[in-house]
Amino acid sequence: MLTDCHNHILPEMDDGSKNVEMSVAMLQMMQKQGIARVIATPHFYCHREKSVASYLERRQRKFEKLMEASPPISNILLGAEVAIEKGLCDTPGIEKLAIEGTDLILLELPYAPYQDWMEEEIDNIAMTYHLTPILAHVHRYLDWYSKAQIKQMMQFDAIFQINAEAFETFSQRKIAKEVIKRELPFLFGSDCHNLTDRKPNFDLLQKKVKSEVLEKSNALLEQHLQK
Ligand SMILES: [Fe+2]
Repeated sequence: MLTDCHNHILPEMDDGSKNVEMSVAMLQMMQKQGIARVIATPHFYCHREKSVASYLERRQRKFEKLMEASPPISNILLGAEVAIEKGLCDTPGIEKLAIEGTDLILLELPYAPYQDWMEEEIDNIAMTYHLTPILAHVHRYLDWYSKAQIKQMMQFDAIFQINAEAFETFSQRKIAKEVIKRELPFLFGSDCHNLTDRKPNFDLLQKKVKSEVLEKSNALLEQHLQK
C-alpha cells in the first residue's frame, strides 16, 4: 500500500494545511498520485508546546474535524515530526508521539551545525522508550553538516526518511541514492504543506524511483505496523 510517511495535511495544526478544504484538496491530489495511506506528521516543537498531552488533544481535534469532511483518503495514521532539542528525551509523554500502531518516531534534526548531543538525544529516546527513530529528510542538511558528518549520520541506528523533492537537485539526490544503494532502511514522504510550492509530489517520486524501490519503503512500514 503506497504510503506517504511525512506530511502536514492536518488542518490548522502547524505551518501546513490552513483549513479543512485545503486538507481535502491535498488528499485528493495524493489519491491521484496513487497514495492509499497517509501518516500525518504535524510539527512538534517542545519549547513551544505547553505539553505533549495538549498537543495530542489538539491533533485529535483537528483529525476529527478532517474526518467529518469525509476525505478521499481515510486511512490516516497519526504521528508527529518531533524537532530534536536538548533534553527532549526527558519530556513527559514524549513516547506518545510515536506513529500510532508502530514503534516508529519521526525526528527532525536541527538546521544548525552538527553537535554530538543530537545523536545522544536520538539514542536516548530509542533506548528509553524502545522506539525506532526515523530521521526526517536526511538529504536536507548539506548546508549545515560536513561530508564527514553526513557519513556519520548515515551510521545512526535509525530509519532514513527521504522526501520526493530530494530527487530534484543533484546534491540531495546523491544522498538519497546513497541511502538506497547502501540498503539502509528508508521511508518515503512528500513533506507536503500546501497546494502550491510544497504540494503532494509522489508523482515526482514515481518518475524518479523504480517501483521496487518504492515497494521497499512500503514493506519496511508494514514490518513496523505488525510489531
Ligand atoms: Fe515536515
